[in-house]
Amino acid sequence: MKILNVVGARPNFMKIAPIAEQMKAAADIEALLVHTGQHYDAGMSDVFFQDLGIPRPDVHLGVGSGTHAEQTARVMVEFEKVCMEQKPDLVLVVGDVNSTMACTIVAAKLGIPVAHVEAGLRSFDRSMPEEINRLVTDALANLLFTTSLDADINLRREGVDPARIHFVGNVMIDTLLKHRKRAADLDVPAKLDIEPGKFALVTLHRPSNVDEPSVLRGIVEALNEIGAHMPVVFPIHPRTLKRIREFGIETTRLRMIDPLGYLEFLNLMSNAGIVLTDSGGLQEETTILQVPCLTLRHNTERPVTIEEGTNLLVGTDKDRILEAFHRVRRGEWKPAGPPKLWDGRAAERIVEIIRNQAF
Ligand code: UD1
Repeated sequence: MKILNVVGARPNFMKIAPIAEQMKAAADIEALLVHTGQHYDAGMSDVFFQDLGIPRPDVHLGVGSGTHAEQTARVMVEFEKVCMEQKPDLVLVVGDVNSTMACTIVAAKLGIPVAHVEAGLRSFDRSMPEEINRLVTDALANLLFTTSLDADINLRREGVDPARIHFVGNVMIDTLLKHRKRAADLDVPAKLDIEPGKFALVTLHRPSNVDEPSVLRGIVEALNEIGAHMPVVFPIHPRTLKRIREFGIETTRLRMIDPLGYLEFLNLMSNAGIVLTDSGGLQEETTILQVPCLTLRHNTERPVTIEEGTNLLVGTDKDRILEAFHRVRRGEWKPAGPPKLWDGRAAERIVEIIRNQAF
């Protein structure tokens, strides 16, 4: 069975790593890795391949940045050529970035079956580009692998044949559990001259938070105030840095640093007293690491991290963020149990199911 595994942007890399590893061990699978080039900076891409031991991509599409239409179209044009040349039996996509959707459309139109890993997540907010990507990808995918049972319910509600839905757990957590010990050896807080457990870790990159001056200003003001109580470490996404400069926003109390690699970031996250983020992945990772997480969004496609995890949805209002921060500081947050099947074996289940398909 010939499979094209697709990655494009930062959050894809840690999801594909355990799947590629399992496929390599399967004698009946020939897997090729296609990198669309949606993310291209060394700090947003190469470092993850090194940290996670992901083999070099077999094909690189080099699409780069652009508007949604430009980026999606470029991926489609280039990926179609690869599919026609390689004639795979299956295309496997992960997550919800533009590359995920673009490659799914191409494969579906060529009659190539598609497997979607992390299917069924819904924020029910179509102003979020990822929500559109999730809806389109899941409508076209033949095999839908889910991380939590709420995703199964969403898919069934949308009319997906239950036989196509497989609840397998979370591949991102496979990667976290595998590398947790190696990350623990790094001691990143010492390098930053901060004390473990006594700093806040921030990430921010959602267009709804960083592209709107008043929203970004309010969030950064809250973070500056938090900076009066403890160091605030902020590995900053290129998009966010651009906006902060463009809008002339003061970041006096923030320790802004370049984006980190996987292991360094995992070390920092494990040691943080609190995480404030608008990332989807961090909501899941903090749940496993038992670190309180304030999500600076009005909705989440990952409700299991609130119901069973350390996540709290606080929105983007400055006062609400600060109120939640002080509650956590007083120790008022709930420790979590790991969600069902977030046990490090999701990729194993996925590859086993794929091997049993007759395409
Ligand atoms: C993308 C994903 C988002 C994911 C995020 C993780 C979509 C719609 N969005 O958002 O779901 O959570 O990745 O980071 O697919 N840039 C660089 N260097 C890079 C990549 C991007 O400087 O290597 C800058 C460019 O100015 C670019 C901007 O960041 O225009 C946005 O990049 P893009 O890939 O369009 O979206 P992200 O915001 O990274």
